[in-house]
Amino acid sequence: MTVTIRAEGPADVSPVHAVTERAFRNAPHSDQREPFIVGALRESGALTVSLVAEVRGDVIGHAAISPVTIPDSPPGWYGLGPVSVVPEHQGRGIGSQLIKQALATVRSNGALGCVVLGEPGYYGRFGFRVVSGLVYPGAPGEYFQALWFTGRLAQGEVSYHDAFSTAPGQAFYDRYTGGPSDFIVYQLAIQ
Ligand SMILES: CC(C)(COP(=O)(O)OP(=O)(O)OC[C@H]1O[C@@H](n2cnc3c(N)ncnc32)[C@H](O)[C@@H]1OP(=O)(O)O)[C@@H](O)C(=O)NCCC(=O)NCCS
Repeated sequence: MTVTIRAEGPADVSPVHAVTERAFRNAPHSDQREPFIVGALRESGALTVSLVAEVRGDVIGHAAISPVTIPDSPPGWYGLGPVSVVPEHQGRGIGSQLIKQALATVRSNGALGCVVLGEPGYYGRFGFRVVSGLVYPGAPGEYFQALWFTGRLAQGEVSYHDAFSTAPGQAFYDRYTGGPSDFIVYQLAIQ
């Protein structure tokens, strides 16, 4: 099976929405806002990296990276996610390919670093680590990780783009601030 990873184009908008919707439909840590978040990021010009995975002409995966802000840190920090692979193609390394290429893309464009909110073991595979003093308010520390490319290591509270809170429905990332119980459900779901 040949998987092509490429930047999204205008014709991918609807397939990306569908892929994201399907990937998160049964994810217990999700409130199913992810496709709308991707759309809101795109409309705001904040979809810094948007890669699709294609198999036989069909979009079956997607990875997004958008800017984050950290007070007292220079611009150049980004957040990874949402990342989606349709259920029938999960577990074949496609998510890993998307993530590696998305990180390489943002890095080659001059990013200082990238953060991620999610399962520590999974994202640790790509070099993400907990950084003392770099936090996402409300999230248990081990679930918020950073990958530092260059420059001075950022410190402080990270804010995601407004699209994460203004897209329809309950804020996706607020799910992660609900306390450890959400994380236990999330962890069980991916084991
Ligand atoms: C997370 C996701 C993008 C991974 O894509 P994938 O193509 O299945 O991942 P890969 O094949 O590269 O990696 C598979 C590994 O990731 C693990 N994994 C799969 N989904 C995971 C998740 N949500 N969290 C943590 N680990 C996960 C698998 O257990 C597997 O582990 P193994 O290599 O030890 O067997 C995909 O499972 C997905 O779309 N999930 C639903 C949406 C989601 O939860 N996205 C992440 C939050 S933004």
